[in-house]
Amino acid sequence: MNIQTQDTPKVLNVGILGFGTVGQGTWKHLLENGKFWPKILGSQLVPTRASVRSLEKERSVEIPSDCLTTDSASIVNDPEIDLICELIGGVEEAKELTIQAFAQGKSVITANKALICEHGEELFRLAEQAGVGYGFEASVAGGIPIIKVLRESLVANDFPLIYGILNGTSNYILTRMEKEGASFEEVLGDARELGYVEADEALDLDGVDAAHKAVILAYLAHGIWVDLNEVTVEGVRRISNEDLAAAENLGCRIKLIGVIRRNFENNHVSVAVHPALIPVEETIARTDGVHNGICLNGSVVGTVVLTGRGAGQDPTASSVISDLVDVVKGMQGLSSMPKLLHVSPEECSLASPQEIAGRFYLRLSVDDRPGQLAKVAECLAERGISLATVSQTPHENNQPASLILTTHQTNEHSIAQAVDQLEQLPGVMDKPVLFRMFDPKGIF
Ligand code: HSE
Repeated sequence: MNIQTQDTPKVLNVGILGFGTVGQGTWKHLLENGKFWPKILGSQLVPTRASVRSLEKERSVEIPSDCLTTDSASIVNDPEIDLICELIGGVEEAKELTIQAFAQGKSVITANKALICEHGEELFRLAEQAGVGYGFEASVAGGIPIIKVLRESLVANDFPLIYGILNGTSNYILTRMEKEGASFEEVLGDARELGYVEADEALDLDGVDAAHKAVILAYLAHGIWVDLNEVTVEGVRRISNEDLAAAENLGCRIKLIGVIRRNFENNHVSVAVHPALIPVEETIARTDGVHNGICLNGSVVGTVVLTGRGAGQDPTASSVISDLVDVVKGMQGLSSMPKLLHVSPEECSLASPQEIAGRFYLRLSVDDRPGQLAKVAECLAERGISLATVSQTPHENNQPASLILTTHQTNEHSIAQAVDQLEQLPGVMDKPVLFRMFDPKGIF
């Protein structure tokens, strides 16, 4: 364990078991965001060692070779390592390493849904007995912070119904079959090439992965561990293009969903994973591709829907790191209320209007006379603003016409200047109406 001096933040060394997709993402983002950890925690989180199956394999994230080992236990037992991220997957070895880490007084963060589903009850008990943290945000729905939302944000609620898309790979397959009319086999081939499919394909295609996650959600919402054998588990293999088209005719889309119901009259809980036709108005029906989506019906809050990337390097690393930060806060007795982040102007400051890009909608009330549109267009062009669409509604009885314009990408400064100028333009009868055209996709 490192000693804290007055000037340097205490260093907490993080050992990563498994340097696959999620392990590499965690290493990368811990380093990239290194300047934030002392500000948030008063400590520096340093990814220090990682275990791999093969030292020779090429990796997309750079790591000094002396940080790598094929011996995961050597990381768990290394006295210099303070925190463990168990990202190796599988059940038996992962369980053994986790228990060893607890015995060493080390908190563990995991993305391992199969392990939590099958041995969560025992592992949570052992972590509590050892007085260490066990974080598992990354085990359900990748980057969507569903665990924290259920445990903390929605703690005032009972949940008669939780349902949603918990497996990104099968959702990717269904979405492409539906949108392109592509066959199951064809899309599965692409999913394999893209690295979406688990090594054991049945986990994704037969609903087992989604069932692991549904069991974890059922525990968080209702406090009971449901045996996987008691869960109805169906996958996507029997869904045809014909079914998808028929569902559309019924105003629905077919999704593979996990469903957790609780009847509060008899206090029974059911957990199931199966394909279902869902009305297209529901957000979950419109959650496509590798995205996951979870709809929570809370007795106090009403309906809350969370959607986002349910798998992959960056989103899953985001959840792993969030758990690391929480665990360290717990170790240091810090409040779980976020510490306010103070940054210097060099690190973050307000953008100037020139830097704020966007497209705009303008409505002008104009005198309907020859050359009016040309003058308006010229005024905009002088500020480098290009028109995307133009339409004019003529009004009767010599009333001013409405000229409705939309622009291509420009910025807040240019459009503000143009609007000031337009207001002065002869033939413009009123203060121009300006709205932003907000397309979140166009912002990044
Ligand atoms: N195979 C999983 C999925 C990975 O497709 O959602 C994330 O748990």
